[in-house]
Amino acid sequence: MDKVFVMDHPLIQHKITLIRDKNTGSKEFREVVKEIAMLMAYEVTRNLPLEEVEVETPVCKTKSKVLAGRKLGIIPILRAGLGMVDGMLSLIPAAKVGHVGLYRDPETLEPVEYYCKLPADVEERDLIVVDPMLATGGSANAAIQFIKDRGATSIRLVCLIAAPEGVKAVREAHPDVDIYVAAVDEKLNDHAYIIPGLGDAGDRLFGTK
Ligand code: PRP
Ligand code: URA
Repeated sequence: MDKVFVMDHPLIQHKITLIRDKNTGSKEFREVVKEIAMLMAYEVTRNLPLEEVEVETPVCKTKSKVLAGRKLGIIPILRAGLGMVDGMLSLIPAAKVGHVGLYRDPETLEPVEYYCKLPADVEERDLIVVDPMLATGGSANAAIQFIKDRGATSIRLVCLIAAPEGVKAVREAHPDVDIYVAAVDEKLNDHAYIIPGLGDAGDRLFGTK
């Protein structure tokens, strides 16, 4: 499971428990998903390259570090991935945001693509694909393939809750993609829902049913 990072920070774990709770309503669910995404942005950007620049403080000149290297992009998988965008942007406000629209057909469980709008320079960016749930991995795999087909070469996947099956599927299909999750749960049920999971992330975020 190298290249699969489980973020076990106490704040993240506490907040994951809040969103698992079926009594957490949409307003609080949205707020907490945003907070978790912000904490995960901190971890996922830990290894970004730095370069030294000169800066003048009120007292003297000194050398200090700034981000170097490639620009960033955040790619939410619609719809539930939208819930993670603002949290990510609050730490990396200069990132551009692209959207990939996919839904999982309830009968076949296969991902169906319906939208794709990416930054024009997608091939020059380090991309962070976000989606709260990694269940079978079908949606994440399709979204990653979608953006690779448009030239992307540097991709990380950030999910809140994963099933072991989804992690395995993405590792097999896209071994170059590092996966960051807050929890790897027990299994999928017969409808490919994550057990224990948190239910349908899109419905809980947007209050649909
Ligand atoms: C959910 C979730 C993922 C997908 C995960 O989206 O947000 O995109 O399911 O399942 P998978 O790993 O088995 O593909 P859903 O298809 O419910 O669409 P929505 O976000 O529009 O509700
Ligand atoms: N999509 C969700 O929103 N929840 C799951 O448990 C599985 C897929």
